Amino acid sequence: MQRLLTIVLVTLVASPLAAAPKLGAIASAHPLATEAGFEILAAGGNACDAAVAVSAALAVVEPVSSGIGGGAFYLVQLKGGKALFVDARERAPQSASRDMYLGEDGKPVREKSLNGPLAAGIPGEPAGLVQVGKRCGRLGLARNLAPAIRLATEGFEPDEFHLQMVGMRQKALAAAPAAAAVFLDQGQPPKAGFRLVQKDLAATLQRLARQGQPGFYSGDTARLLVEGVNAAGGAWTLADLADYRAVERTPLRGRYHEVEVLTAPPPSSGGVALLTALNILEGYALNLRDPVTRKHLIVEAMRRAYRDRAEYLGDPDYVAMPLAMLSSKDYAAGLRAGIRTDQATSSASLPGAPSGPEGTDTTHFSVVDAAGNIVSATLSVNIPFGSGFMPPGSGVLLNDEMDDFSAKSGSPNAYKLIGSHANAIAPGKRPLSSMTPTILRRGDAVAVLGTPGGSRIISMVLLGTLSFAQGSDDPAEWVTTGRYHHQFSPDVVEYEPQGLGADDIAGLEKLGHTLQQVNRRYGNMQAIAWQPRTGQMQAASDPRRKGSAQVR
Ligand code: DON
Repeated sequence: MQRLLTIVLVTLVASPLAAAPKLGAIASAHPLATEAGFEILAAGGNACDAAVAVSAALAVVEPVSSGIGGGAFYLVQLKGGKALFVDARERAPQSASRDMYLGEDGKPVREKSLNGPLAAGIPGEPAGLVQVGKRCGRLGLARNLAPAIRLATEGFEPDEFHLQMVGMRQKALAAAPAAAAVFLDQGQPPKAGFRLVQKDLAATLQRLARQGQPGFYSGDTARLLVEGVNAAGGAWTLADLADYRAVERTPLRGRYHEVEVLTAPPPSSGGVALLTALNILEGYALNLRDPVTRKHLIVEAMRRAYRDRAEYLGDPDYVAMPLAMLSSKDYAAGLRAGIRTDQATSSASLPGAPSGPEGTDTTHFSVVDAAGNIVSATLSVNIPFGSGFMPPGSGVLLNDEMDDFSAKSGSPNAYKLIGSHANAIAPGKRPLSSMTPTILRRGDAVAVLGTPGGSRIISMVLLGTLSFAQGSDDPAEWVTTGRYHHQFSPDVVEYEPQGLGADDIAGLEKLGHTLQQVNRRYGNMQAIAWQPRTGQMQAASDPRRKGSAQVR
């Protein structure tokens, strides 16, 4: 009797929560992209198909952040546990060389690695879409790209953020006639109500949909890209495109207390740095510390993880990296031993690392389908609208991901990141990234998360992970939590408005930290919580921007 009562009670209590969604959950940076993903789930696609549809839709409706002229990382965990990582990061063209962005005075010329065709790496996202679809999708490229092609053909009204960013990047866009024709209105940033129609992009997506990889990397699209880049002062060859492959790599795995962490391997620096920071922090009972000490320890862990990023990390196809060491608990114990609870470490007192740059726009989305397949993906063209350059006739806005290389050892990039030889430019090499798509599991709770934000991506994912690790199953909390950041160099704790309270600020300054409030709240985290046992899902979009997170 008692057993029966328990079953009835459990059913009653669990049922409202247990109502598993029919389709799944999607959190992305744009409502039309989230909609595209649900269209594909409703058509019988799984999370991988939806990921292809969301990526392609974002390429159309959020060109400020990502696109088929850029790159992407897809972290996938299939129902049953099999995990894969598709690296569709851009590669340097064969014409690239170590000192290509240095001026006569030996200093990096930022303009060249940020704007125009010389700033662009060979796009990886189209190959990523093909690969993700092939490896784990069901519907095929033509179906999955259909919503994006429709959006590009019919057009849509860009939101306020898009219009603001056009204003910010007006000069770079105006310098490329094809980009100006698409994104500007008679040479000026468009006003609200402007309809963005992208006919050339629709045609390029259509060639990709029909022919798969060769539809972008050879034939008409490749010819348009190479001719356009070279006519404007770049140096690409058809072989650069024909040789591009998305690479499947083994995701990184780690553990923080009882949380299993599945995250991005190099050429992302994010997963390695995340694991180093978590391993350092695991030695402290963080929840028993007072709030200032807790943040101090997190900052000191960030400092050391970012130092190693600068020192060791680069493209795994080009450099040997001590990954086992960097992600080991013993190594972290050594780093922890150098942390004082009563005083900030000065970055200058740690073994030196040279510095390098990074970019400012990018996008993340998370998908879990009703069967429990998961995709966590971060995509980028680097800074808003990438290089601003569009090869005529292609509709493809090219990235400026070359700025993520270390143009000169020790000299900072767009994100004030420094790098070493490991991230030096070389032909065919992938620039080191901070993009950190991540999947976490704590007992019977799963978290899927990631964000844009350049160098701050890693610290944001760390703070989100700690929030989940402390027992928060509400993705709204992970995406809302106030943010602070330390990246070793410069030696300052940056924090967003409301990211730290007055007591935190006073306490951290007393410990010897230099604090700097940044002018705007940052990041755009898109997250999903899933309870596999009940099927319950929750999704959340960062309140700092206008994404769309839904469970259906
Ligand atoms: O791959 C990277 O690390 C950078 N290109 C990401 C740039 C970024 O997140 C800009 N976002 N606001």
